[in-house]
Order: sequence, then structure tokens, then C-alpha cells
Amino acid sequence: MRTKYALVTGSSSGLGFEIVQYLLEEGFIVFGASRSETEINHSNFIDLCVDVTDEEAVQTMYDEIGKETYGLHLIVNNAGIFEMGSVLETESETFMDHLKTNILGPFHILKYGHDFVIEDVTHLIHISSIAGKKGFENVSAYCASKFGLNGLIESCREEWKGLGVRFSTLMPGAVDTPVWENISDDFERSKMLDPEDFIQVFDMVIKSPPNMQFPDITFLHKSGALE
Ligand SMILES: NC(=O)c1ccc[n+]([C@@H]2O[C@H](COP(=O)([O-])OP(=O)(O)OC[C@H]3O[C@@H](n4cnc5c(N)ncnc54)[C@H](OP(=O)(O)O)[C@@H]3O)[C@@H](O)[C@H]2O)c1
Repeated sequence: MRTKYALVTGSSSGLGFEIVQYLLEEGFIVFGASRSETEINHSNFIDLCVDVTDEEAVQTMYDEIGKETYGLHLIVNNAGIFEMGSVLETESETFMDHLKTNILGPFHILKYGHDFVIEDVTHLIHISSIAGKKGFENVSAYCASKFGLNGLIESCREEWKGLGVRFSTLMPGAVDTPVWENISDDFERSKMLDPEDFIQVFDMVIKSPPNMQFPDITFLHKSGALE
């Protein structure tokens, strides 16, 4: 098999960590991009510590990738933050942090990743959220950021249509990852999907025919969205 390269943001924890392990098993050479180190020791894993909100740092990261490969077969824009709070409780700084990490970060990854797009090959996968389609009580900053992310993706898909690349967007409901550890509300973990459930959907997207993209895959636990 020809070597395939993937970039996964938010590789140090949760879904990004699971995605990296899955892709390594599938034979990809994987670049991981998080602020902290990713605890994966594998000869095909290259850890590039980066804050995706930092434009220069993202450019430097792609310079590093350029030393290894001219193109990425897969770009997974996954890094994100999630905090709960009503509009009245949420500080402007917290609100801006969501916009920076969940929209500006993916924007940097797309903007400077363009040079690594392989025509008719690259698959750009975004991990958005069901909160990017529906408002939830006390999730205003996160919902705003994921709705915004979806707008960015939709526009970029139109702009890059001529390149023959694929854009797929996964919009899961709650998945039991470390992101929930800092949430004070006591949500039942048994009503969340497992990371393995998420990887099953991801696997279906990765193995889909090369002429197919998934603009909106929404999936959630059978008990419904957490309220
Ligand atoms: N878990 C869920 O219920 C759920 C549901 C729907 C959608 N999602 C989405 O899935 C994605 C992953 O979430 P998760 O549940 O896996 O959360 P997580 O366990 O908290 O992981 C988030 C990842 O994003 C990275 N990250 C955060 N800010 C970053 C920055 N500025 N630069 C680079 N990396 C950054 C974190 O690494 P560092 O802290 O080391 O930077 C970490 O690796 C997010 O986009 C989230 O919105 C999650």
C-alpha cells in the first residue's frame, strides 16, 4: 500500500486520541497536533505540539509536516473545548475562547493546510457536534462556536469544490470522553456513546468509496440528546 499521511488535531485526549490509534492501526503515518504531548509511542506517529489558535504556530507545524511529506491524505479538524454556562453566566473571555479554539483553530488548519491538499484525494473530516445544529440550554458559547464551525466548513467545501476533495462532518451527541470530567452537572455516562461507537462511524467514513462525502452525519445515544 502507498504510504498515507494524516493530520489529527486534538490528539492528546478523547476522540482525537482514539482517532490517532485507529489510523495507526490502519497503516497511516499520523501527525498529532495538541498543546500537550500525546502519549502514543509508535514509529508512525509524529507529535507536533501546537496551539491551533496561534496562527504562526500552525504555520510552523505545517513547515515540520513539509519535511516529511508533500501532501496529506486526511486532515481531521477535531481539537475543541466545551464549557457549560448560560448567556448571563458566561464571561466574554470564555465565549471568545470557544470561538478561537472551535472556529479560528480549524480555520488556521484549513488555510495553511491547503498547500498539503492532494487533488482528488484528500478527505477533510471535521468533528463538529449535534450542538452545531440545535441550541441547548446553558451551552451558549459551545453551540455558537459549533454553528460557526459548520458555516466555515460549508463555505470551504464550496471554495475547494474544484480540487475534487471530500469534506465530511461528524456531529455526534455526547460521547464519554475526558471533556465531561470538568463539567459540574452530573450527566449520566450510561446515556452517552462510547468512544468505540464513535470510531465505528469514523471507520465507515474513512472506508467509504472515494467519490463519496458526508456533509452531516448526526448520531447519538438511543436515549436521545442530553438535556
Ligand atoms: N465528547 C463529546 O461528548 C463530544 C460530542 C460532540 C462533539 N465533540 C467534539 O469532539 C472534539 C473532541 O472532543 P473530546 O470529547 O475528545 O474532548 P477532550 O478529551 O477534551 O479533547 C480535546 C482535545 O482538543 C485539544 N485542544 C484543545 N484546545 C486546543 C488548542 N488550542 N490547540 C490544540 N489542541 C487543542 C486538547 O489537547 P490539549 O489540551 O493538549 O491542547 C485535546 O487533545 C471536540 O471538537 C468536541 O467539541 C465531543
